[in-house]
Amino acid sequence: MRTAVAAPRHDVPVGVLEGRVTGLSGLTVSLSGLRDFTGVGDRVTIFGLDGRETDADILPFHINTAIIMPYGSLEGIGSGCRAMFQLFDPEQRRRRAGGTLVVNDAWQGRVIDPMGRPIDGKGPLPPDGVPQKLHAPPPEAALRARLGPRIDLGVRVLNLFATCREGQRLGLFAGSGVGKSTLMGMLARNTDCDVAVIALVGERGREVREFVEDDLGPEGLAKSVVVVATSDTSPLMRREAAYAATAAAEHFRDQGKSVLLLMDSVTRFCQALREIGLSSGEPPATRGYPPSVFAELPRLLERAGPGLPGPDGKAGQITAMFSVLVEGDDHNEPVADAVRGILDGHVVMERRIAESGRYPAINVLRSLSRTVPGCNSAEENALTRDARADLSTWEEMQDMVRLGAYRAGNDPKVDQAIRIAPAIEEILRQGRGEKATIAESFDALRAALSPPGTP
Ligand SMILES: Nc1ncnc2c1ncn2[C@@H]1O[C@H](COP(=O)(O)OP(=O)(O)OP(=O)(O)O)[C@@H](O)[C@H]1O
Ligand SMILES: [Mg+2]
Repeated sequence: MRTAVAAPRHDVPVGVLEGRVTGLSGLTVSLSGLRDFTGVGDRVTIFGLDGRETDADILPFHINTAIIMPYGSLEGIGSGCRAMFQLFDPEQRRRRAGGTLVVNDAWQGRVIDPMGRPIDGKGPLPPDGVPQKLHAPPPEAALRARLGPRIDLGVRVLNLFATCREGQRLGLFAGSGVGKSTLMGMLARNTDCDVAVIALVGERGREVREFVEDDLGPEGLAKSVVVVATSDTSPLMRREAAYAATAAAEHFRDQGKSVLLLMDSVTRFCQALREIGLSSGEPPATRGYPPSVFAELPRLLERAGPGLPGPDGKAGQITAMFSVLVEGDDHNEPVADAVRGILDGHVVMERRIAESGRYPAINVLRSLSRTVPGCNSAEENALTRDARADLSTWEEMQDMVRLGAYRAGNDPKVDQAIRIAPAIEEILRQGRGEKATIAESFDALRAALSPPGTP
């Protein structure tokens, strides 16, 4: 092993570059000796005093010192410890720059970590596959295919009031414990797609197994790739979980498939970015989030959506649902704000509705899909418009009605809402094992809006 001498970048030697730990602070390590051939985002291996190896990413450089953050714990890393960087020939270097993930179709049905290693105890995965860039740019906007036809999500309330097209990206805004995981499981099982890729970012360890076994179930898992980084892992791992899942979704999209990408949650992804940014010396800006978070977030979210059309004119699609944690109904929190601006619609889940026992606890009046009404027929649009109007009147008036302060016959609009809204609420209710196609959803709404006996 040798330390490479400085040489112009185009003349990269093949071998190993060695550095030494000069300092440790918080979550980061400073390294000397890695200059001239390494850059931000490159991955190095660091050897602890006990010989343990840990991978780490280079964050920024300060003068000649690389600041790195390990994927594992810092325990056993001390001053003078060795760090290694693999030097590749220029072609390999170009391919590997910024990190790649080798994705294999056999990932379907499996639970993996952000490095693509299986963590479900079901044995090894094939080591080969297609290299995918972890930080790939989104397809060129002008060349990108358009959104596909509407996609059947198998969940009535979404099929009716947030009708989605293939390649659309939605935000799912929810507090804790309102039924997010259950809804994601239902979507993975019920959606009319070829593959579902699910990223669990920063969940508690116990929840992962519960999600896979109870919410997803064997049927959902069979068509899913589940990428997991729990809350106790390093912020780099949590960040990579989002990138690895996106890269896997892109892999299937590039095969022309219809992919459903579910990410729970982008808030925890942003919190990981915040930890990384602050550790590498960035200043905190909006509520402690450094500016890089809001530069990075759109780059991730934009990668979902339509792919490039193939020779036959058809394109694969990534339809995506990104969950955002809203605590105490604070919808103006910076991550929620940024996400709302980037995506093509939002679905709001509310504790009040969950407490009333209606699941999925989605507030129809506050949810919106920007591609509706374009993807529904005129008759379907009229149905959802009428239903929304009834629900809105009902929301305004229900306290008065319950208190007996409203006298039937005073306002035909209110009378209609009193008659119809409970029936619509009944349609919005859906058990976790139940599936409803778009046609079934509209049939149910049609029947609720014109009950037998009405003209
Ligand atoms: N469709 C449904 N039908 C009946 N009950 C439901 C439904 N969805 C959710 N629930 C109830 O709500 C509870 C919480 O659901 P879930 O675990 O999916 O919420 P969560 O938002 O993921 O919670 P956390 O924030 O803790 O991860 C479930 O245990 C279940 O009792
Ligand atoms: Mg959950």
